[in-house]
Amino acid sequence: MAIPKHIAIIMDGNGRWAKAQGKKRTEGHKEGVKNVRSIAIYANSLGVKCLTLYAFSTENWKRPIEEVDYLMSLPKVFFHAYLKELMEKNIKVTMIGDINRIPDEARKIFLDAIAKTSKNTGMILNFALNYGSRDEIVKACMAFAKDYKAGLVDTLTEESFNDYLMTAGLPDIDLLIRTSGEERISNFLLYQLAYSELIFRPEAWPDFNKQSLDACLEEFEHRSRRFGGL
Ligand code: IPE
Ligand code: IPE
Ligand code: MG
Repeated sequence: MAIPKHIAIIMDGNGRWAKAQGKKRTEGHKEGVKNVRSIAIYANSLGVKCLTLYAFSTENWKRPIEEVDYLMSLPKVFFHAYLKELMEKNIKVTMIGDINRIPDEARKIFLDAIAKTSKNTGMILNFALNYGSRDEIVKACMAFAKDYKAGLVDTLTEESFNDYLMTAGLPDIDLLIRTSGEERISNFLLYQLAYSELIFRPEAWPDFNKQSLDACLEEFEHRSRRFGGL
């Protein structure tokens, strides 16, 4: 099977998953964290080079403070439980997003996981945390303008623009998956998804399992990617 180099996932539907079982929304997020581990380990075993997971958007700050606090406590839960296993599996943790607004504890835990796994050569597990694509594009433009003004660069190309994005250095995204039946991008990787295949799955993120990923890969294999050619 042709394995996509870079898969991005919008992990949606935790809240509805919990509600459907008469539980609190936070229970859905807790279950979602466990699923991050199992899908990451599985993707790594399949030979995926990079897995980018949308964990928290720049718009998710609009949620009730209790839910935001709970979400920000999850990096600790995740890395406490699974960092050892990520190391054993040679997985390298990275992140995109504006790390400055993330509460101290979560930021430190993330930076620690990134540092500890930085020499690993297996799959890149890239978390989009406090990430918004419009924010990213505006920041990229500002960075370019600064370099231009300083005389460091005199032009901008599609390729050199990539280097100003938070995804600089990562392979192009072959496949985007969104769970929970919503069919929208929600400010995720707007520039990078130009020629990605899009798959929308009905199951909520906690229910998205190995078989679900297999089904996505099967569908991906049958897509004919033309990139504008014939
Ligand atoms: C995805 O699940 C997780 C985050 C956005 C942090 P949701 O919390 O959006 O769940 P639904 O969409 O309300 O069911
Ligand atoms: C997108 O899900 C963000 C993440 C999965 C982190 P949302 O649940 O925030 O998106 P909308 O509000 O349905 O567009
Ligand atoms: Mg949602």
